[in-house]
Amino acid sequence: MNRSFSRRSFFGMAAAATAVAAVPILTEPQLARAQRRRIAHDYGPDSVRIDANENPLGPCSGACAVMASLLPEGGRYDMEMTDKLVATFAAQEGLKPENVLAYAGSSEPLHYTVLAFTSGDHSLVVADPSYEAPMYAAKFSGAKIVKVPLAADYSHDVRAMVSADPSAGVLYLCNPNNPTGTITSRADIEYALANKPRGSILLIDEAYIHFSDATPNLDLVKAGKDVIVLRTFSKVYGMAGLRCGFAIGRPDLLAKIQAYGMNSMPILAVAAATSSLETPDLVPQRRKINTDIRSSVFEWLTANNYKFIPSQANHFMIDTGRPGHDVIAAMAQRNVYIGRVWPVWPTYVRVTVGTHSDMDKFQTAFKEVMTGPTASALRSYDPAELAAMGTRDLPRHARGLVASRV
Ligand SMILES: Cc1ncc(COP(=O)(O)O)c(C=O)c1O
Repeated sequence: MNRSFSRRSFFGMAAAATAVAAVPILTEPQLARAQRRRIAHDYGPDSVRIDANENPLGPCSGACAVMASLLPEGGRYDMEMTDKLVATFAAQEGLKPENVLAYAGSSEPLHYTVLAFTSGDHSLVVADPSYEAPMYAAKFSGAKIVKVPLAADYSHDVRAMVSADPSAGVLYLCNPNNPTGTITSRADIEYALANKPRGSILLIDEAYIHFSDATPNLDLVKAGKDVIVLRTFSKVYGMAGLRCGFAIGRPDLLAKIQAYGMNSMPILAVAAATSSLETPDLVPQRRKINTDIRSSVFEWLTANNYKFIPSQANHFMIDTGRPGHDVIAAMAQRNVYIGRVWPVWPTYVRVTVGTHSDMDKFQTAFKEVMTGPTASALRSYDPAELAAMGTRDLPRHARGLVASRV
């Protein structure tokens, strides 16, 4: 029997369920699409799609082969396959299977962790700018959201975060950070763990860890610390559309998030994820591809005197020195879709690292946009229509979190 649905955890969940609030899940593609619709219609043919931190390489060849061979089995739930995936990951990381829960992407456990550990009495502490989904989930738990600016080196300011609210429930550390792609040192994470408010947990989101030099934090789970680590197959493994991810933590912490929902896993995603984990060269190869392309874009930006934040992920931020939304709109008119603007930095845009060809097209369009009057790109759109387009794709509670057009 799949561990996720054992008798013990079922009754545990049922007991916790009295306190459960439902939360619609907010995801990066929804945020990216809302922005696209704000400035243009959806992707056209041959669009350069570098707005949602996807991986243009898609699943590795072994994963594609195993999915193709498994299609006829699509009539089965096959929960044992999920057990195998969990066991494979746990063995590779020196963890026990009971430290790992598989979900269809890491967005669900991210939201559920915020629901489980924050409330009207226990706030959510986040860096600013950082990934918005935890703040969105906190609106459903009724938690106060405490935003702490990133440090001068764009790492999480852990000293300010741990002292931001003595009754915090969750400190969210996104490492590398979305949108900046910058990393927070292991020493800082250990500081946060040692000095966090009593009763709180660290939610360490390692969605982009494979692209970077950041020290992974799964050993903190092994050591029984108050942490939940999130991993996803959406980034380095190129499986965003297939949906697979993990919450990794102490069993007592995982039991709390399980109360918010566990579904049967999509078998193609599970098979592709297992095959990816069993391909040892995959992560180093993809990491090198991403690093090489990112470095060549950074060289180009530097040579052209554009201001950017050096990143260790598959995305980075450029300070355009003008309203970021105008630049995004002007780029979209050239069929290059870049993403997004965070309210705290209205002149910065986040750009995903695509293929070499994507980034060549990005560079051509960006240079054109930056040397021309970008604001004119928006003149063909009615402002009221723009405002409505921007929010239509977002769940209501997310609308206040994203930067609106000025
Ligand atoms: C920081 C971060 N965490 C979590 C996610 C969720 O990804 P998924 O649900 O596809 O695993 C994303 C998606 O872009 C992200 O950027």
